[in-house]
Amino acid sequence: MDINAALRIDMDVLEHAGRADHIRSVAFRTGLYLAHKGKEPVGDCCVDFNYFLGQAFVSLLIVAQPFQKMGFGFALLEHVERLLDGDLWTSTNLTNGPMISLLLGRGYRACGQLDGLDDRDPELFFKKSKRGAKVNFQQV
Ligand SMILES: CC(C)(COP(=O)(O)OP(=O)(O)OC[C@H]1O[C@@H](n2cnc3c(N)ncnc32)[C@H](O)[C@@H]1OP(=O)(O)O)[C@@H](O)C(=O)NCCC(=O)NCCS
Repeated sequence: MDINAALRIDMDVLEHAGRADHIRSVAFRTGLYLAHKGKEPVGDCCVDFNYFLGQAFVSLLIVAQPFQKMGFGFALLEHVERLLDGDLWTSTNLTNGPMISLLLGRGYRACGQLDGLDDRDPELFFKKSKRGAKVNFQQV
C-alpha cells in the first residue's frame, strides 16, 4: 500500500498536512483504500473502527481535484461497502454539497447533526445499512 500517495492527495486537496497522522494510523490498522486510474493514484478512503464502539466509519474520502466528478468517490465507497458486513457510518460538513450528493446517491440516510466541531458549519452524520440476506453466488 502506497501511504505516501494517499498523503499527497490529501495534502493537495487540503493544502496542508494536518490529517497525515490520521491517515497513517488508519493505514496501520489496515483501513486505508487507494483508488487508481491506470497506475495513477487518484483517491483514497479511510475506514476507521475506533469511532463508534467498533462500527465501521468512513473518516475520510478524498479524490484528487483533476479526477473529481468522474465517479472515483462513488467507486471507492462502493468498494468498501462491498467489503464490510455491517452498517457503514460517515459524516461531513453541512456545506459539503458534493459529498452529501454522493452519499445520498449511494443510499446513505442522514442520521442527525452535531454542532460545534467547525464554526457555523454543522457536521451531518450518515449511515448505510446492509439489507437482505447474505448470499454467496456461484456461476454454473
Ligand atoms: C466528495 C468527493 C470525495 C466526491 O468524489 P468524486 O469522485 O468527485 O464523486 P463522484 O464523481 O464519484 O460522484 C459525483 C456524482 O456522480 C454520481 N456518480 C458517480 N459515479 C456514479 C455511478 N457509477 N452511478 C451512479 N452515479 C454515479 C454521484 O452520486 C455524484 O452525484 P452528483 O452528480 O449528483 O454530485 C470529492 O469531491 C472530494 O474529494 N472532495 C474533497 C474532500 C471532501 O470533502 N471529502 C468528503 C469529506 S471527508
